[in-house]
Amino acid sequence: MARLKLAILISGRGSNMQALIAACRRGAVDAEIALVLSNRADAAGLAFAAESGIATRIVPHGEYPDRAGFDQALDQALAGAGVDFICLAGFMRLLTPEFTARWRDRMINIHPSLLPAFPGLHTHRRALEAGVKLAGCTVHFVRFETDTGPIIAQAAVPVLPGDDEESLAARVLAAEHRLYPLALGLVAAGRVRVVEERTVVDAAGVAPGDASGAAAALLINPAG
Ligand code: GRF
Repeated sequence: MARLKLAILISGRGSNMQALIAACRRGAVDAEIALVLSNRADAAGLAFAAESGIATRIVPHGEYPDRAGFDQALDQALAGAGVDFICLAGFMRLLTPEFTARWRDRMINIHPSLLPAFPGLHTHRRALEAGVKLAGCTVHFVRFETDTGPIIAQAAVPVLPGDDEESLAARVLAAEHRLYPLALGLVAAGRVRVVEERTVVDAAGVAPGDASGAAAALLINPAG
């Protein structure tokens, strides 16, 4: 399988982006990050990417009359950088059906819940309200409907007595930083196939916990 040429799309802090950059740099993920793109000029992650020597691009969504126009501008920027695979990492724009179809099985996202539970916004608040005992995060291929698509990998963390949105979000975020590189590593190594809208993950012969391709399920002990 040819080496992936990635774009990471962000809208803010970019801590998952940082985890992906680090994993590519240390060779845990065999992929080249060709572009970090944001729809917001004030996304904090842009500075980190630029300091890491990665090309950055801002495509401000407000400058386009509609979603289709914005998505066309995205496509142009991606084509200009020779990108063949997209990682959404806190990218807060809905994409059109045409864009998601064009990038089908070539675009992945991380969401801070154990999908299909709690898609969309205010994930942690809703998880706490529901009283779940396990929370977590999911990396999945992107389909048109928000936070849907074949699941590649998930990590679970406990919900602890006394948790509030902030403490739960922080525990899940730490898991995200382990899970996203792991999932991208599996995809980049050609170990993930989509079959009838579910993934088949070949994790054979890989040590658990190895971000280059462990089993696609992580159970994280907060003390560990
Ligand atoms: C993460 O929790 C991610 O799962 C969600 O948005 C947040 C982005 O955080 N989609 P960061 O920008 O990666 O720090």
